[in-house]
Amino acid sequence: MLATKSPTEEILDLKEERRAILLAHHYQEPEIQELADWVGDSLELARKAREFEGDVIAFCGVWFMAETAKVLNPSRIVVVPDRAASCSLVDSCPVEPVRNYRRLHSDHVIVSYINTSVEVKAESDILCTSRNAVQIVNSIPADKTILFLPDQNLGRYVQQQTGRRNMKIWQGTCVVHATFPVRRLAAARADHPGALVVAHPECPPPVLEMADFVGSTSAIIDWCVRSAAREFIVMTESGVHYSLHKLAPEKKFHFVANENCNCSECPYMRMNTLEKLRDALLNLEPRVDLSEDVMRRARVPLERMLAVK
Ligand code: 13P
Ligand code: SF4
Repeated sequence: MLATKSPTEEILDLKEERRAILLAHHYQEPEIQELADWVGDSLELARKAREFEGDVIAFCGVWFMAETAKVLNPSRIVVVPDRAASCSLVDSCPVEPVRNYRRLHSDHVIVSYINTSVEVKAESDILCTSRNAVQIVNSIPADKTILFLPDQNLGRYVQQQTGRRNMKIWQGTCVVHATFPVRRLAAARADHPGALVVAHPECPPPVLEMADFVGSTSAIIDWCVRSAAREFIVMTESGVHYSLHKLAPEKKFHFVANENCNCSECPYMRMNTLEKLRDALLNLEPRVDLSEDVMRRARVPLERMLAVK
């Protein structure tokens, strides 16, 4: 009887055949992270995608991240396990109102979070991620009015960190982070009195006020690993537990359930599976296919962001 290959073995073979790189966000299932050539936050993955010299980028994250990879490396084939893996922030910010705003306020600077569609990126002056948002806003001349979009919690956090007053903020939210209730964080602190609190800036202000550290996905991981503390309450997607445990197995990490799913998992990120990844590498579908025009326009604010150290 012929031995059948496991999905993992098939992916490894297909990766070689296709000269593919597998990029995975920290919110992916552990078995996907295990296979990835690189696991990172959205900024790190965008940089990796830009540098890649093979033929195929298999992007395990959400659709806007795969679009970003395509814009930064347009001659490569970019595939995803599941085309339906969107993001509530992207969905909160359609391109038409952004275009109208731009028409009406041509002197304002549009700073878009990377969690936006490629069409919204193409209407933006500069992009940012949760890792560099403060630096990006600080890089814009003080007399320029900013429209920050689409995440209201990140926008408010950046405003507080920079002291910037002339900044309008879109009212989008992340379905995972914005629904972490502060009372559940307070209860977790009472249960684990020695634990430090770390939070992603997409969390609501009362949660961020209680945090000992606020940062991007990878920044949270680095901070917990370097910290002298032994116990942490982690206010972000629970996929980060895989790297946290690998890098600091002696430390304890507690996650808090949100009010959306009563869990701390992103419903979009978790659509990806090993089987869908295997099929994507086999069929080279679903594939990111974007017009030259939208890529050319979206590349400008993306490259501006990458040039800010
Ligand atoms: P990072 O930039 O920290 O990877 O965040 C992306 C994201 O979607 C957080 O919910
Ligand atoms: Fe979007 Fe939130 Fe999921 Fe991140 S966690 S991809 S911001 S819905």
